[in-house]
Amino acid sequence: KKVVLAYSGGLDTSIIIPWLKENYNNCEVIAVSADVGQGTELDGLEEKALKTGASKLYIEDLKEEFIQEYVYPTVQAGAVYENKYLLGTSFARPIIAKRIVEIAKAEGADAICHGCTGKGNDQVRFELTIKAFAPEMTIIAPWREWSIKSREEEIEYAEAHNIPLKINRETNYSKDKNIWHLSHEGLDLEDPANEPQYNHPGFLELGVSPEQAPDEPTYVTIHFEKGKPTAINGKEMNGVEVVTTLNELGGKNGVGLADIVENRLVGMKSRGVYETPGGAILYHAHNKLEELCLDRDTFHYKQQIGLKFAELVYYGQWFTPLREALSAFVDSTQQTVTGDVKLKLYKGNIIDAGVTSPYSLYDPEIATFDEDEVYNQADADGFINLFGLPIKVYAHMKAKTENK
Ligand code: ARG
Ligand code: SIN
Repeated sequence: KKVVLAYSGGLDTSIIIPWLKENYNNCEVIAVSADVGQGTELDGLEEKALKTGASKLYIEDLKEEFIQEYVYPTVQAGAVYENKYLLGTSFARPIIAKRIVEIAKAEGADAICHGCTGKGNDQVRFELTIKAFAPEMTIIAPWREWSIKSREEEIEYAEAHNIPLKINRETNYSKDKNIWHLSHEGLDLEDPANEPQYNHPGFLELGVSPEQAPDEPTYVTIHFEKGKPTAINGKEMNGVEVVTTLNELGGKNGVGLADIVENRLVGMKSRGVYETPGGAILYHAHNKLEELCLDRDTFHYKQQIGLKFAELVYYGQWFTPLREALSAFVDSTQQTVTGDVKLKLYKGNIIDAGVTSPYSLYDPEIATFDEDEVYNQADADGFINLFGLPIKVYAHMKAKTENK
């Protein structure tokens, strides 16, 4: 029997390898690590996986595909979960799971295993994607099966099975990192009354707190082609370069911190702190350009689409007909979202500093407070009479029926 394991090298997925062998007839375990930009965490991973009992380790570089095919479409949709969360963990799950299915099929594996807990969103995201591409695949979720209940018990299990540990017992938040974001959950954050320790050395990893940011602002200009960022400060860049560059600029200016009590799909509320410096800048810049380039009705309708899109991403419903249909709508709106957005980053703030587009719908000739030739103010008379007709009719009805 062969099992393909979604492997990160962290404590959870490390103990899963011996656990699988113990509980699934000494099966072969093939570990797969998807590189979505978690950085140094990949160093030494192969040695670790093999030492722990895996027969091999795949490391898949998915960074550029992640940004182009998952991140940018979500930014273009303006999708933000519950007004704050830029979905960094959410949209990484479908791309990872899709690749794991491909490997499982190529390897002729009997099952796919993941280390998500039974209390979270990630299990749903992984498994919905597996169902989309391998509807009959057996899925093993040890957290829903084994008797281990806590981090302490995991550490005991690891020690009993000679798994190398490099964690200190009390001080670890539950984190999820990729090129787009870093999430923090657990410990003191579990009480929403507690302020996150932004100024505590080592808490923030992608940047500094607004207080620690420099007193001088940083200006940045982002060029978009059809709603996708393609250059920064005049330099053409691929997705990885764009996001990395903006993370750096945003991070050092204390931009992109979010603190949220969010509604998980499984019903509970949970508290998370997110660092998304480059992401916050991209959402802001993209929206700024749409202010200029989208007509009113499309802009407003798109706001509704963004809400639903965010739910679909958060709920792990990436590979669904509805998400694909909404993406088709969004793509159609992006054809003229081309231009340059200049921003000023300053102590946690993203401040507009000018926007231009060859497709701009903003017409100064029409909008001006000075004299113009194209807008006849007398037209407003008839417009307001008809636009206000229902209000007038309603007011008459109220006056007639008030004393009855
Ligand atoms: N609450 C966020 C989400 O559901 C972040 C989850 C972080 N995941 C993790 N395995 N640490 O998208
Ligand atoms: C987990 O429970 O595995 C992480 C948190 C989440 O998925 O929401």
